[in-house]
Amino acid sequence: MARVLVTGVRGKTGVPLAELLVARGVEVLGGSSDPATVDLDGVRPTDFSWDRPSGWPAATDGVDAVYVVRPDRPDAPELIGALLGVLPPRARVVLLSEQDADWFGPDGWAPRAERVVRDSGRPWTVLRPSWFMQVFTDPRFHRDEIARGELRFADGGALVAWIDARDIAAVAERALLDEGHAGRVYEITGPEALSLPRTAELLSAGVGHPVLYREVSVDEVVAGTDGFERDLTALTFQRVRAGSFAPVTDTVRAVTGRPARSLATFLADGERLPSRRA
Ligand SMILES: NC(=O)c1ccc[n+]([C@@H]2O[C@H](COP(=O)([O-])OP(=O)(O)OC[C@H]3O[C@@H](n4cnc5c(N)ncnc54)[C@H](OP(=O)(O)O)[C@@H]3O)[C@@H](O)[C@H]2O)c1
Repeated sequence: MARVLVTGVRGKTGVPLAELLVARGVEVLGGSSDPATVDLDGVRPTDFSWDRPSGWPAATDGVDAVYVVRPDRPDAPELIGALLGVLPPRARVVLLSEQDADWFGPDGWAPRAERVVRDSGRPWTVLRPSWFMQVFTDPRFHRDEIARGELRFADGGALVAWIDARDIAAVAERALLDEGHAGRVYEITGPEALSLPRTAELLSAGVGHPVLYREVSVDEVVAGTDGFERDLTALTFQRVRAGSFAPVTDTVRAVTGRPARSLATFLADGERLPSRRA
């Protein structure tokens, strides 16, 4: 039986990935900085924190593969490199990065995080997804404003090819377990690029009340944040405005054999969608 460590197992891609791996008979170590909160059928809660490297050897003991959710902090390249250093020699690594990561330039933070994986000498696959549809159901992002009937975004008129995190997980599952994905960089998107006004129309239909779109400035988005988080968020929205997240790829179909879910399908599933005005 294959053994796989899923870092960030409680996160947007971690949960569906763990479910897929369990269904394939994998021994899943569910990595969390708070393992007592991991409650997923068939998953072994596993203490994994980027802040506690002393725990990494136990968390990665005997693993065949690791799913690495990049920590969004300045030392991510160094932390990921250090983690790879304690893995069993043949363990595969699948890194969750982001679409168009080359935009940062070769010395940028996101390419450096990818490079430590690509230069590790291990079998690796890099996943570069567009924006997750789950930002509409996550209280850390847009869930609560959508419940109030509003969607605020600093798009500058650009399109976004929203991707369902379940489809990212499906690609990750294949890369972790199957042959043919080593040395590949997968840009992963949904089936269509949508404007933000069109996105708000679809959200309105999905949640059953009007969701009005309001374009905001990057300064408004980063208000109240500071340091690395502020810089990364500002850069991310510059990239949105430059169209980084607009190109549509066929990766989900090519890797999994079935098409990526549309936003309408995601919304029809309905789970955890805010259903009425607060
Ligand atoms: N959201 C998007 O639209 C999007 C788009 C493209 C790329 N990405 C990238 O995808 C990655 C995940 O982003 P996300 O917003 O979707 O987050 P997420 O996976 O939903 O949640 C982050 C995960 O990090 C874990 N975590 C928090 N502190 C930790 C620590 N000290 N040590 C180990 N794990 C820790 C959390 O689990 P515990 O609390 O259980 O530890 C949680 O599962 C990021 O690199 C992001 O840049 C996101």
